Amino acid sequence: MTQQRPPLIPAAGYALLSPCYDAAIRLFMPERAFRQALLTQAQLREGQHALDVGCGTASFLAHASATYPKCNFTGLDGDPKILERARTKIGSTGNNVVFEEGMSYALPFDENHFDIVFSALMFHHLTKSDKRRSLEEIHRVLRPGGAFHIADWGEARSLPMRTAYLAIQLLDGFETTADNVRGLLPSMMTAAGFESVAEQKRFNTVFGTLSLYSGRKATEGLA
Ligand SMILES: C[S@@+](CC[C@H](N)C(=O)[O-])C[C@H]1O[C@@H](n2cnc3c(N)ncnc32)[C@H](O)[C@@H]1O
Repeated sequence: MTQQRPPLIPAAGYALLSPCYDAAIRLFMPERAFRQALLTQAQLREGQHALDVGCGTASFLAHASATYPKCNFTGLDGDPKILERARTKIGSTGNNVVFEEGMSYALPFDENHFDIVFSALMFHHLTKSDKRRSLEEIHRVLRPGGAFHIADWGEARSLPMRTAYLAIQLLDGFETTADNVRGLLPSMMTAAGFESVAEQKRFNTVFGTLSLYSGRKATEGLA
């Protein structure tokens, strides 16, 4: 019997709310601070090629591509409608950005293809098994020594942060969001083969704790 694929959870939980997504993030999240922190921790170098998995409306890519005009960026998302918004946002200014439609757990790229992979606010949309498959895919497409940088909901270390996160769980569902708030993303990254996995930064927000993690693909075996 074939396994039924879970439907993709759109950017704001429901397709009808997608037009409000950017405004909600701008209003309720420390958007500039967390996107800049994610970019800073990657320490991109000239000529590098980075992938943003679950790029949504390309808010991160707009900032990253303008900051690093000599790097190349690929944005991937499973929702063709959100990719239309992304293309409009980047417009003709982002000559160093291309978009691909695809799913995080079946990345349409060769192995060892990217220097850096980013993902922001997508992993809490995935079931446990899709988180595992997606992490393995990200590991596969990274070159040896490349790094994965992720911003997503992390372990709630206080009752107010745990309570605040209920809003995300009501919007995006309890099943996919549970691993995040239990703080399981780092151990899942390690299980997928990443080394030196660490929480780099944490933001307390009105929706709970946003954690920034990083992990590296081993260089072992390089000739
Ligand atoms: C909450 S939005 C975050 C968008 C963007 N990364 C940001 O920081 O604003 C999550 C995005 O992930 C996409 N998405 C969800 N599951 C996906 C999957 N398995 N593969 C690819 N994209 C996915 C959704 O279509 C949506 O655009």
